[in-house]
Amino acid sequence: MNVIHTIEALRAIILENKQKGKRIGLVPTMGYLHEGHLKLASQARTENDVVIMSIFVNPTQFGPNEDFESYPRDLQRDTKLATSVGVDVIFAPSVEEMYPHDGGISILAGHQATLLCGASRLGHFDGVLQVVAKLFNLIQPDISYFGQKDAQQVAIIQTMVRDYNFPVELRIVPVVREEDGLAKSSRNVYLSETERSQAPAIQQALQLAKRELMKSGNVEKSIQLAEKIIEENVEGRIDYLTLLSYPDLAEVTTETDQVLLAVAVYIGKTRLIDNLIFSFKGEHAHV
Ligand code: PAF
Repeated sequence: MNVIHTIEALRAIILENKQKGKRIGLVPTMGYLHEGHLKLASQARTENDVVIMSIFVNPTQFGPNEDFESYPRDLQRDTKLATSVGVDVIFAPSVEEMYPHDGGISILAGHQATLLCGASRLGHFDGVLQVVAKLFNLIQPDISYFGQKDAQQVAIIQTMVRDYNFPVELRIVPVVREEDGLAKSSRNVYLSETERSQAPAIQQALQLAKRELMKSGNVEKSIQLAEKIIEENVEGRIDYLTLLSYPDLAEVTTETDQVLLAVAVYIGKTRLIDNLIFSFKGEHAHV
């Protein structure tokens, strides 16, 4: 395992491997790895000659009142975990290394970033695109791996790859869950014991809403059902609970097939997200 911190060292590794015709897989992360990240890395291991994991808590995707400073960081622990799933290189740059200039160029995410998480996290997805575009340019991966848990992020990155012609394939890996259904997240460590015991209701609510949707096709009723489950079981606040077409994130119509049922809930100070993506045949829909 090679842990590097500079762009110069990274470029040397990329050049050497590209010259040898090696296939490079990238797993972009903000560290504090959990099983979800390890699943991305394991899949990357099976599909590439070289697996590079970036570990960088990207300041440009955090709002002024968000948890950039307190976001959990532990490179030593991450290195051990990444080694255990066969990652070859960890690229863990400093903020100064990634952003040495004050630069006036930014990539702006479009309409897909105005809803769901984007509605309350202004500029968040612009920051994500900025760092992901930099990582794609620096690492030139053949395949890059993202978790479905961040379904909106994936949809927006897909649009950037399409619109800016990045020569990279995106692999979307299903959500990894705790035994009780809670989606794995680096932020789960913030939950108190009580909050942790309430959190699985989020996934249960989504499953119930999906079942209702498939049965009745009634979007409004399904969403209300899920909201009720969360309100009754979680001391918190629903930020959004929405059904949209996927990956374009538009209103569901009778033409829609693939849908995203997405939720964000504040439990105490912790904001948890989760989603289901499934085929919802338009002809059954009461929309
Ligand atoms: O999903 C994340 O962890 C981050 O948004 C990403 C893609 C690594 C960019 O900082």
